[in-house]
Amino acid sequence: MPTLHDQVQSRRTFAIISHPDAGKTTLTEKLLLFGGAIRDAGTVKARKTGKYATSDWMEIEKQRGISVTSSVMQFDYNDFRVNILDTPGHQDFSEDTYRTLMAVDSAVMVVDSAKGIEDQTMKLFKVCRMRGIPIFTFINKMDRQGKEPLELLAELEEVLGIETYPMNWPIGMGKDFVGIYDRFNNRIEQFKSEDETNRFLPLNEEGELEIEHELQESPLYEQTLEEIMLLSEAGNQFSEEKIANGTLSPVFFGSALTTFGVQTFLDAYLQFAPAPQARMSTSGEVDPESEDFSGFIFKIQANMNPKHRDRIAFLRICSGKFERGMSVNLSRTGKPINLSSSTQFLADDRNTVNEAVSGDIIGLYDTGNYQIGDTITTSKEMYQFERLPQFTPELFVRVTAKNVMKQKHFHKGIHQLVQEGAIQLFKTVRMEEYLLGAVGQLQFEVFEHRMRNEYNVEVLMERIGSKVTRWVEADKVDENLHSSRSILVKDRYDKYVFLFENDFALRWFEDKNPDIELYNPMDIK
Ligand code: G4P
Repeated sequence: MPTLHDQVQSRRTFAIISHPDAGKTTLTEKLLLFGGAIRDAGTVKARKTGKYATSDWMEIEKQRGISVTSSVMQFDYNDFRVNILDTPGHQDFSEDTYRTLMAVDSAVMVVDSAKGIEDQTMKLFKVCRMRGIPIFTFINKMDRQGKEPLELLAELEEVLGIETYPMNWPIGMGKDFVGIYDRFNNRIEQFKSEDETNRFLPLNEEGELEIEHELQESPLYEQTLEEIMLLSEAGNQFSEEKIANGTLSPVFFGSALTTFGVQTFLDAYLQFAPAPQARMSTSGEVDPESEDFSGFIFKIQANMNPKHRDRIAFLRICSGKFERGMSVNLSRTGKPINLSSSTQFLADDRNTVNEAVSGDIIGLYDTGNYQIGDTITTSKEMYQFERLPQFTPELFVRVTAKNVMKQKHFHKGIHQLVQEGAIQLFKTVRMEEYLLGAVGQLQFEVFEHRMRNEYNVEVLMERIGSKVTRWVEADKVDENLHSSRSILVKDRYDKYVFLFENDFALRWFEDKNPDIELYNPMDIK
């Protein structure tokens, strides 16, 4: 029987972040194939395109051909149990996407070699930086013509403000892609080898091919050796410590579609990615190997099956071992909850998972007990994990009920959905109008859909567009500062917030009101 220590140390829990179309789905699928979690290539893809979306709740997902909901995939590889948390890969990503990053211990960033760093990757990357978790980079589509690798590295460092260390380096690309020069394993991995036995060509101590090979005749080989020399002399040093605190990203080149460089990446990733770490709570750090069970809810998804009106709360286990039927306390209310038949594992498709420890994600049937950020634990202390950060909404609508007779349902629906974390609610200070804020357009569509289907209310949403959102301390606020360019509102905790028309309006306001300190919870310290 493995001990709790062994089990926790074998866990690797990560999210893949990328811009849509960079190859996240393809890479995920290839990783799952290595782990034997799926038999056929195309399984994950089918889920993405909606083939597996059966319930009505998935309607939006089907209509839009996107994954609205983050979900969890689990597989065993060598002695590791790997949990991959999926993040919706559409431009219309939501707060769920951000919160998923609160539940992981590391992140893998997939970059399209032809595109470089794009907007969405940047936003997700910021959340990883905020948490200081390790970030591994996979530069994909080397079988296609892309940007020069040195240019890509410079872009990663400049745009993201992070150091990089290439674990391997491409030899050519596109039609001329030969393979990767693997600095970490001291070998060349050929893209097209005559057979499996010579896929890997060993390098000698000077970093040159040990045996004679036709590759030595290629100018691409010469060029690679020069670039490797340049990296060794002028590039960053490899540092496990910097990887661990998220200030240096190990970079891997490959091609997910052709399954090239994926296993090499996976092996190194598992070696350097952290097992679950201690997490901060109101009674100090909670050791992941502590016998007391604990975890926090990072996402609630309602009505996966509209016939049952059920909700699923996604729990990240932070310590101890989960057992079906166990009794825990919900720290926010102090009430005991029995995790009996109401519990399911998300990876239950395969029926192989029958226990879960720190690092794993489980889904709990919820009849309205849980809120996002809730802690459950068997510890008598009933501590709470740190509050999940509030993410800065960028898009806003003014919302009212179409039918004034439906006010009661309207308020109930809004308040429940806001509490669930589906959307953020603000009230204008003057008129007490309701404004909804989101990080992506999709959240409004989900809101509208759910108000109609779950609360029987048609809503009117008037777009007021994108805003630059800044919180402000209450004692500094003069309600006369409200204007059409700087709308003053209160959030659901009654904190004052300014919604600026654009960056220009924000700067103008800051110049005029130097005493007022504005802050953005998403700013990286
Ligand atoms: P995403 O989840 O990040 O949105 O990306 P996804 O994996 O769906 O990949 C986006 C497109 O890029 C797909 O093509 C996929 O086949 C392709 N792709 C992924 N990895 C590689 C790679 O290493 N090399 C090349 N050349 N292409 C890659 P598509 O035409 O949009 O879809 P499909 O027709 O292949 O299904």
